[in-house]
Amino acid sequence: MPVRPSLKGLQDSQPMNIRLCRPADAAQIADIYAPFCGDSPVSFEIAPPDAAEMSRRIENISRRFPWLVAEENGAVAGYAYASPHRERAAYRWSADVTVYIRDGFRRRGVGRALYSSLFALLRLQGYFKAYAGITMPNAGSTGLHAAMGFRMVGVYEEVGYKVGAWHDVSWWGLALQPPVNPPPEPRAFPDIAGSPETLAAIKIGDRMFKPASQTKK
Ligand SMILES: CC(C)(COP(=O)(O)OP(=O)(O)OC[C@H]1O[C@@H](n2cnc3c(N)ncnc32)[C@H](O)[C@@H]1OP(=O)(O)O)[C@@H](O)C(=O)NCCC(=O)NCCS
Repeated sequence: MPVRPSLKGLQDSQPMNIRLCRPADAAQIADIYAPFCGDSPVSFEIAPPDAAEMSRRIENISRRFPWLVAEENGAVAGYAYASPHRERAAYRWSADVTVYIRDGFRRRGVGRALYSSLFALLRLQGYFKAYAGITMPNAGSTGLHAAMGFRMVGVYEEVGYKVGAWHDVSWWGLALQPPVNPPPEPRAFPDIAGSPETLAAIKIGDRMFKPASQTKK
């Protein structure tokens, strides 16, 4: 049936959805991250990475780990990715996780959705623990991590100095799956990227978004 011109724009609009990050997302991701460098203690980076540097980071991370974005109508609303917890061999079943949501898209379930998909992928890869470091205070981040089932492991007191003050970082941990002995080797993300299970895991978060009208302040 032909589409009436008045409806076409609406029918073309893309609801919020989660997908793998592409190099072309680098500029939007750099834009989301930039406010947390410079004058903010949320990230301990000072110079915000530009799009070219962000593109290098995406490429580097994606050799081993998933980097996901939530997108609505072509706009990147937020992103989440995993990275090695520590490089020494016995740590290789543990990953650090990072999430940033664009101002204006927060409290719509985007962080929860991205993390839910990311953790499903980490389980498929064979990871057992996820860790996140949060500069204190950060009500949004502690709220999200607690809501996802993380427990605070401890606080690195006054571990970083930025914007004229020393900052505490709390570390949070989540068991992604029960331990097994011995654990199978974790798989690099590209080795599982095309499987039906991987595609289904990426989509797990899609049902968790809330409409903007339900946003909590
Ligand atoms: C922290 C952050 C990623 C949370 O993402 P989000 O998409 O807004 O979170 P969600 O909407 O998925 O929230 C899921 C749950 O987390 C908790 N939560 C999220 N934001 C919260 C806040 N500001 N205060 C208290 N709890 C909060 C709630 O339990 C929430 O569930 P509810 O809305 O049904 O009550 C987002 O606020 C952000 O990007 N902040 C700036 C960057 C940052 O701090 N990143 C983390 C660095 S460690």
